Amino acid sequence: MADKATFPGGFLWGAATAAYQIEGAVRDGGRGVSIWDTFSHAPGHVVNGDTGDVTCRHYERVEEDLDLMGDLSLGAYRFSVAWPRVQPDGKGPANQQGLDFYKGVVSGLRERGIVPVATLYHWDLPQPLEDEGGWTVRETAERYAEYVGIVAAALGDEVGLWITLNEPWCSAWLGYGVGMHAPGLTNPQLSMRATHHLLLGHALATDVIRRDSKAPVGITLNLAPQIPASDHPLDIAAAQRSDGGLNRMYLDPLFKASYPDDVVSATESVGLRMDVVRDGDMALIGRPVDFLGVNYYMSHVVASTARLAEARQAGYVAPDSLLSEPTALLGMAQVGRPWLQRTATDWEIDPAGLTSLLVRLRDEYTNAPIYVTESGVAFYDYQDPSGSVHDPARIAYLHAHIKALKEAIDAGVDVRGYFVWSLMDNFEWAEGYSKRFGLTWVDYPTGKRVRKDSFEWYKRLIAANALPS
Ligand code: FCB
Repeated sequence: MADKATFPGGFLWGAATAAYQIEGAVRDGGRGVSIWDTFSHAPGHVVNGDTGDVTCRHYERVEEDLDLMGDLSLGAYRFSVAWPRVQPDGKGPANQQGLDFYKGVVSGLRERGIVPVATLYHWDLPQPLEDEGGWTVRETAERYAEYVGIVAAALGDEVGLWITLNEPWCSAWLGYGVGMHAPGLTNPQLSMRATHHLLLGHALATDVIRRDSKAPVGITLNLAPQIPASDHPLDIAAAQRSDGGLNRMYLDPLFKASYPDDVVSATESVGLRMDVVRDGDMALIGRPVDFLGVNYYMSHVVASTARLAEARQAGYVAPDSLLSEPTALLGMAQVGRPWLQRTATDWEIDPAGLTSLLVRLRDEYTNAPIYVTESGVAFYDYQDPSGSVHDPARIAYLHAHIKALKEAIDAGVDVRGYFVWSLMDNFEWAEGYSKRFGLTWVDYPTGKRVRKDSFEWYKRLIAANALPS
């Protein structure tokens, strides 16, 4: 019988961060302005009015952070390259200082035996490009490929894995559809266009990287199982619509070269159209990736809005468990599972959803290797008077998710690595500094790093290449 706890040799244990969330130094080194600078500085967008201006001061403390990773004995580190550091206006000449910063990161990782995993777009679009329409216009995909060419030429020999985009659903929907993220627009039609141009950007960038680097290229999606609240056909249909918008809208173009018909017709029924697709685009987007990156945080239970009252009466939806206003337009409501533990971001904890997701990806989409490029949790951590941060709930969370991932491997899914979100506490987008996801505590006033208990736990796991019993 296969050992339940031990991972395959060469399994990549990692941790992840993103540029705007940790770097700070937004005016240093020739960096241009990004949509997140603009968005976070406008009142009402981020909790407490927080911004990424200073955050973890990683730009200054990069050597210390590399040592921290060395101490953790990471196999891989996933970071993102800030486009406005490399190309301050989003077009035109490269900014050498920006490139040098990332060259330093990559060579510092290699010196410590850590594989650099570079994400090329983690949401920080140069503001001048947003002023010309951002991801809602096709030119942005072309500018993006140009920028990627600059990075690939500079770092191509040393990067171990390339990730074109992080979570295009968030860029398109949260950014252009509902305004929770930069650039803060609330126009679902623009969000449809952004989806297509992001995916096109991914496709164009993939070619450019392959020109300058032998390293595998993939994309990272945020995927979450959408579970019907009951076996009633209306609930099943609602869960399918929800799965369509979040998961299949990205998986289908990438692995089947088309947008899902049911999503296209459902959105058309409410007046939204995928009206920017040109001949040949889908074939480009649907070419094979070398791997798929999966960010997993949650699953959702979905009911049909027409069934909510009944669902409550039947008792499978607790009366107070409606998590969000029904997405009235499409008749879907997300309902809560009061029996599940929640995180500080109010997400339900469901490790089994990771196993089913990974198995589904293999069964329905691809045999390409999969990396879990983000998994982790915010709890209300606390630095005790002795200065320590004990976070047993995070350890339990990581343990359960890594175990769930191992079950997928045992079921034959080719999962090659796992990256904890995050190496350190950081700027959690619209939640500002109120949510701490790190293995490392950051004391924001001073920038001091403190290893949490989960850091030491993960270090032991990496050394054993196995879950502790
Ligand atoms: C993901 C983002 C990442 C981080 C985690 C908590 O959606 O990719 O930057 O904020 O959520």
